[in-house]
Amino acid sequence: MEKLWGGRFKKTINKEMEEFVSSLSFDKRLIKYDLLGSIAHAQMLGKCKIISKEETDKIVEGLKQILKEVQEGKEKIITGEAEDIHSWIENKLKGKIGTIAGKLHIARSRNDQIALDERLYLKEEVLIIQDLMKNLQKSLLLSAQKNLGIIMPGYTHLQHAQPILFSHHLMAYFYMFGRDKGRMQDLFKRIDVLPLGSAALAGTSFPIDREFVASQLGFSRISENSLDAVSDRDFILEFLSTSAILMMHLSRLSEEIILWSSKEFNFIELDDSFCTGSSIMPQKKNPDAAELIRGKTGRVYGNLINLLTTMKALPLAYNHDMQEDKEPLFDTVSTLERSLFLMSKMIETMQVNKEKMETSTKGDFSTATELADYLVKKGLSFREAHKLIGKIVLYCLENKKYLEDLTLSELKSFHKSFDKKTLEVLKPQSAVEAKDSFGGTSLNRVSESIQKAKKILKQEY
Ligand code: ARG
Repeated sequence: MEKLWGGRFKKTINKEMEEFVSSLSFDKRLIKYDLLGSIAHAQMLGKCKIISKEETDKIVEGLKQILKEVQEGKEKIITGEAEDIHSWIENKLKGKIGTIAGKLHIARSRNDQIALDERLYLKEEVLIIQDLMKNLQKSLLLSAQKNLGIIMPGYTHLQHAQPILFSHHLMAYFYMFGRDKGRMQDLFKRIDVLPLGSAALAGTSFPIDREFVASQLGFSRISENSLDAVSDRDFILEFLSTSAILMMHLSRLSEEIILWSSKEFNFIELDDSFCTGSSIMPQKKNPDAAELIRGKTGRVYGNLINLLTTMKALPLAYNHDMQEDKEPLFDTVSTLERSLFLMSKMIETMQVNKEKMETSTKGDFSTATELADYLVKKGLSFREAHKLIGKIVLYCLENKKYLEDLTLSELKSFHKSFDKKTLEVLKPQSAVEAKDSFGGTSLNRVSESIQKAKKILKQEY
C-alpha cells in the first residue's frame, strides 16, 4: 500500500519496522469517527472554497459509501499494510474516486485527525457508560426498596460494629456511583472540544471555518491553541482516572458480594446465571463475575499508569509515543461497560437471606453502644458509660453470656440507672431505630433516602 509520505524516501520501509509502527490492528475501532470527521472536514473545505463543489461532492460521496459499508458490517475487511486507519481510509477512497481523494487532507494532519477521532469516540462512550451507571444505581435502589427493613451487622475492621439496615448498606453504593457519574458528566465538558483545524501543530494557512466543523460534529467548543490541541491527552487521562475510581468502587462491592455469598456469611445467594462451577468439585458455585470485576480493577489502574507514564516526558507537540494511548483507552471502555452491566444484573437477581443476616446480629455485642448511650441519657459522661459497659462485656465473656441474656438484676449490679427499658434498648431492631440522625440507618431515614434517590434518578432521565 502506498504511503502517505513516500515522496521523500529512496528506500521502502523495512517489514519489521512497518509492522512495529502500524496502529491499524487497534485504531480500526475508530473508523466511524474518522469517516464522520472527514466528511465534515470535506464539507468545510467546499464551503470555504478551498476545493470545488464537484470535488467536495465526490469526496463526501466516497466517504459516505465507505461509512455505509462499515455500518453494514464490512469493516472486518480492514486489514492490510496500512500504517493506521487514516491511511487505510484515504487509500480506500482513492480506490473509489481516484486521485481527488488526496485533496481531503488539505488543511489537516493526522495529528489533529487522531485527536478528533478519539474525542468523538469517547464522547459517545462516556454517555453509554453514564447510562450503565444509572442502571446500576437503579438496581441498587430497587434492591434497597425490596429488602427494606432487613437488619444486618454493620462492620468496622470487618468486626461486628453496630446493627444496620441492609438497604442502608446498598444505598451507600448508590451514592458512590452517583459521585462517579458526576465525575463522568464533568469530564465530558472537557472532551467536548474540537481539535481539528490545528493541523500538524501550528494551525493552517488555508481559510478554514472551524466553527462550521464544530457544529457539524456536535462539539460545544473549539480548541484555543493548536499545539495544545494536538498534544493534549489529558481528556483521556481524566477519563482513565475517573474509571479507576469507579472500578475501585465496583471492586469493593464485588468483595462484599464474594464475602456475603460464602458459607460463613451466607447473606446472599447469587443467581446461577452469574456464577460458574468447578471442573473437579461438583458442589461448587463460584461468584466469578464479582471476582473478575475485582480482578479487572487492576488492569484499569494499570491503564491509567500506562498512559500517565507515556505522556510524562513528551515535549510539545505530537510524538509517536502517543499512539500508545489507544489500547489502554479501549480496554478501559470495554472493561467498564461489561463490569457495570454485570454488576447491575448480579444485584438485580441476587436473593437476600433475611434470616441469616438477622440472626448474625444476635449475641455479637453490637448493641453495646446503645447501652452506653442509655446511661449517658441518664446523666453519665460518655467516657464513664463506655468504661462501665466495657466491664459488662467482660463479665459476659467470662460468664459465657450475651448482652441480651443479662437479667435486669445483673445489669443493676453494674449501675442503678438501668431499668426495665434497658432490655428493650439491647435489641438490634431498637438500635437501628435509634439511629434517626440525618443520613442514619433508621427505617425512617433510609426510606427517606430511597425516596430522594428515586427523585434524583428520575430527574436525570
Ligand atoms: N496512528 C497515529 C496515532 O495514533 C496517528 C497520528 C500519526 N501522526 C504522525 N505524525 N505520524 O497517534
